[in-house]
Amino acid sequence: MSIETQEYVNGMRPGPLTREIPECMRDKYTVVQAIIDIIMFVIVGIGYVIKAVYLSIVGRPKKDLKGAVAVVTGGGGGLGSLIALRLARLGCTVVLWDINKQGLEDTVKLVKGIGGKCYGYVVDLASKEDIYRVAKKVEEEVGRVNLLINNAGVVSGSYLLETPDHLIQRTFDVNILAHFWTVKAFLPAMMEHNSGHIVTIASMAGHVGVAKLVDYCSSKAAACGFDEALRLELETQGYTGVKTSLICPYFIRSTGMFEEVNSRFVPQLNSNDVADRVVMAIRTDEPFALIPGFFRVLLPFKLLVPWPCMSELIRKLVPDAVPVPVHPARPATDAKVPSKPVQLEAKHGAPGPMTVMPPARHDRQV
Ligand SMILES: NC(=O)c1ccc[n+]([C@@H]2O[C@H](COP(=O)([O-])OP(=O)(O)OC[C@H]3O[C@@H](n4cnc5c(N)ncnc54)[C@H](O)[C@@H]3O)[C@@H](O)[C@H]2O)c1
Repeated sequence: MSIETQEYVNGMRPGPLTREIPECMRDKYTVVQAIIDIIMFVIVGIGYVIKAVYLSIVGRPKKDLKGAVAVVTGGGGGLGSLIALRLARLGCTVVLWDINKQGLEDTVKLVKGIGGKCYGYVVDLASKEDIYRVAKKVEEEVGRVNLLINNAGVVSGSYLLETPDHLIQRTFDVNILAHFWTVKAFLPAMMEHNSGHIVTIASMAGHVGVAKLVDYCSSKAAACGFDEALRLELETQGYTGVKTSLICPYFIRSTGMFEEVNSRFVPQLNSNDVADRVVMAIRTDEPFALIPGFFRVLLPFKLLVPWPCMSELIRKLVPDAVPVPVHPARPATDAKVPSKPVQLEAKHGAPGPMTVMPPARHDRQV
């Protein structure tokens, strides 16, 4: 039993005034020091607000990405391929990671077609070993990674009790755990040079819950927390040259993930506009981008209005996120899905077979 529990049981629970300040903190946290800290915080805070307003009026300076090596996960299709094309146009060497070999090959061709430098690697982001192995290969074959875009994502798209366990597991493996492994693989070199950028493609679903997306929303909420805590950790350790950006788009058209979404009032986003916004956030070192931007004003209402009001709003806005089941043929139990492993080449055009699961909903082409 802890001392505090013991004190409570014995009726000797100390109030805030009697609670002892630990020895090591007595000199540090005096009342005077606290007042100085608060005054400093207010002054510095006002400075940051003025700077942000000024930059939003005159525009933020854009960094040059020429020569940077950018890894884009899920780059074999959808938003990832559109981001890759833009980065290649800006002079980046683009490294695409995807489980979908055909999508990878198509995107590599597209990027090379516009004169870009591009490599494709087949990776199953649900496998930590695969991520570490291919990350090492990329560093050997392409070079130090300056820009990591954790974009790959999957959705189960059914009510929680109808979602098989393995799909819930996979959602978390790809949508958040993979971020840990890719960042652990590439961050040390960024820290060593105090330079680099980590981008987390999360979602508005990371801030607002939606029916049929329980696993997706919770994995995206985790991705939002991941970005914020990582940014703070880097700043605390003094690595101010390593930036992070959190991107939270509303439903996007034409990428394939939420093709049939039933959304009212707020139209689905154009995938090209979202890719442009992602690249702008990278070039201007924006810590977070909600797309569309007016959600930034609406979001705080979530904590201000009563829950039934919020529930009405979300259900009117998105009557059905997934009207057509994403995995109709899959069993609802946790029975293992019989899937024959396929042999794929580890790198586009280069030998080196590896075993991955066949893509289910991820086999879309650019
Ligand atoms: N489409 C939307 O409406 C929407 C809205 C908000 C956020 N997002 C997020 O944007 C990101 C991109 O989504 P998208 O719309 O382009 O989806 P998409 O399904 O078109 O593309 C996702 C890509 O990730 C790849 N992928 C999936 N599982 C993988 C795995 N295990 N290993 C390697 N690659 C894998 C797929 O093959 C595919 O190329 C995702 O993180 C998604 O959650 C999408």
